Amino acid sequence: MDFRQTYCFDDLLLVPKYSDIKSRSEVDLSSNLSTGINLGLPVMSSPMDTVTESAMAVAMQKAGGLGVIHRYSSADQQAEFVRDAMASGAKHVAAAIGVTGDYEERAGILYDAGARIICLDIAHGHHAMMKSAIKKLKEVFGDDIHIMAGNVASLEAFDDLSKWGADSIRVGIGGGSICSTRIVTGHGVPTLQSVLDCSRSAYDTKIIADGGIKTTGDVVKAIAAGADFVIVGSMLAGTNETPGAVLTNVSGEKYKEYRGMASKKAQYNWRGKSSTPEGVATTVPYKGSVKHTLQDIAGGLRSGLSYSGSRTIAEFQAKADFIIQSSASQLESNTHIFWRNK
Ligand code: XMP
Repeated sequence: MDFRQTYCFDDLLLVPKYSDIKSRSEVDLSSNLSTGINLGLPVMSSPMDTVTESAMAVAMQKAGGLGVIHRYSSADQQAEFVRDAMASGAKHVAAAIGVTGDYEERAGILYDAGARIICLDIAHGHHAMMKSAIKKLKEVFGDDIHIMAGNVASLEAFDDLSKWGADSIRVGIGGGSICSTRIVTGHGVPTLQSVLDCSRSAYDTKIIADGGIKTTGDVVKAIAAGADFVIVGSMLAGTNETPGAVLTNVSGEKYKEYRGMASKKAQYNWRGKSSTPEGVATTVPYKGSVKHTLQDIAGGLRSGLSYSGSRTIAEFQAKADFIIQSSASQLESNTHIFWRNK
């Protein structure tokens, strides 16, 4: 067998490049999703029931990004989330559906509510059912909707979904902070590697890096590797705009729930039973308004582009120069005063 070396976010670093950028405000973070849909910040929120409903979709829009409303509610409830977000001023809202059961009807209900970006949201997107679902949506809606599909981990899968008609594809399997897919099934590819691989595609389908993005540095690396957008869950978890209550423990610390949609708990909640879990449920510290998190992501990205002397994402991707870090440099790259003084 021929084993190839693959890389995840912490394996690689970007080499700083000559810059004449005097202020981070000179950096343009906009990225085009499709005709008429241009995002000022190339960041989306995950379609998870502890991440995106109306409040997050509105906050994402305000920051220039995009909310993808989860599908783990009734179609009518999900349509209400879409309407709420669009009535509160969100211009674009994406809504997730599956590829079985009521998905066609749900797509119609979401379309009527105003959603023009439909996300075919399944764990293993390189699948015959994905092919027929894309075909069906194309037959019904033509080019009236943008089809976001996924998730995939390989160039072959990316090309197939592109050929089947996907307009954008979520790239990354098993890398999410709450995922246990790789542990349970032995399958997956480091998210950054998947993005690097898919960026070689001859199709111009948009790449959305998904899973395992934990810092603004990871956002910068995903974009440098060829992603047009990133989608994040854990970075937004714990904020006011996520669904769910703010809880307080006995020490007075505040927290919120964050869980994988294939975790046992989430499965019980949305379908009353659980098959083998491929995710976990946990809690994360309460973070206040997501506005601050999104400002940090935008700031990190602007800074990241300016370290490569780039004013636009296209320029940045052309200039990006990755190097491999040794394990010693990985330690140096992390703030090391804390453990050194222990
Ligand atoms: P982060 O790292 O941003 O990842 O928290 C969020 C992404 O994880 C995916 N997701 C799952 N993957 N089991 C999985 O294997 C799950 O239960 C699960 N729930 C979410 C999804 O792609 C999301 O955007």
